[in-house]
Amino acid sequence: MINIPDLGSLHSKSKIVFLSGAGVSAESGISTFRDNGGLWEQYSIYEVATPEAWASNPELVQRFYNQRRKQLLEVEPNAAHLTIAELQQHFDVEVITQNVDDLHERAGSGKVLYLHGELRKSQSSADPALVYDIEGWEIKMGDCCEKGSQLRPHVVWFGEMVPMIEPAQELVAQSDLLVVVGTSLNVYPAAGLLHVARPGVPIIAIDPAELELHHFPAAFHIREKAGTGMQKLKHHLLGKG
Ligand code: OAD
Repeated sequence: MINIPDLGSLHSKSKIVFLSGAGVSAESGISTFRDNGGLWEQYSIYEVATPEAWASNPELVQRFYNQRRKQLLEVEPNAAHLTIAELQQHFDVEVITQNVDDLHERAGSGKVLYLHGELRKSQSSADPALVYDIEGWEIKMGDCCEKGSQLRPHVVWFGEMVPMIEPAQELVAQSDLLVVVGTSLNVYPAAGLLHVARPGVPIIAIDPAELELHHFPAAFHIREKAGTGMQKLKHHLLGKG
């Protein structure tokens, strides 16, 4: 038995919202951003993840995301993604992910909201409403949308609007349990989603590192990697441990 809040009142119609970050995909072999050796130690955010970077060196930005996309084709969902998907058999599960990988979907999660875009898609640099699936891993300079503008990665860069934040807030506001997995909670507005949970709704964070959770009296921290942490949470939710 782990010492987490009593979740015995949850039933098949209860809504469990997972807010995931890079840590949920770490055990699949995808680097996180802010851990030792993370992507933001190897690259500058300002050179690869801002509209200014795209304006000044689009080839570098394109190369950065092409590499991420190529890697994505070589990795598989891990136990954490699979356990989250499995819980759909017992609860109304929604996933809000900050990740641009597709591992939740590939694990079988049916309801995934992408807060920061999707690596496997491109968008027109002139009209963000024009979004396309990418065949393979590469967007090449010279690949254009139907209006003739260069295609860029369909990801939200620092300094850009986060169009999916309102639907995400609605989901969290409806949740009966909020589970935060593998995110440092450093990036807003995503981190602000915890404030939207209704008073008294339990918040469970799964992350091996210390997190700033003191604003959330209802929060409980399972200090484990995503795979083992999710396994423990699943057993607890299903009344098996
Ligand atoms: P971070 O790199 O900031 O945080 C990753 C979190 O995962 C940390 O809290 C780690 O302790 C934790 N972690 C590491 N290994 C883990 C494991 N095996 N299991 C569980 N947790 C583990 O990544 P995010 O919080 O996702 O945005 O970053 C948020 C946003 O910042 C990203 O979506 C991206 C980034 O810059 C954009 O690019 C717009």
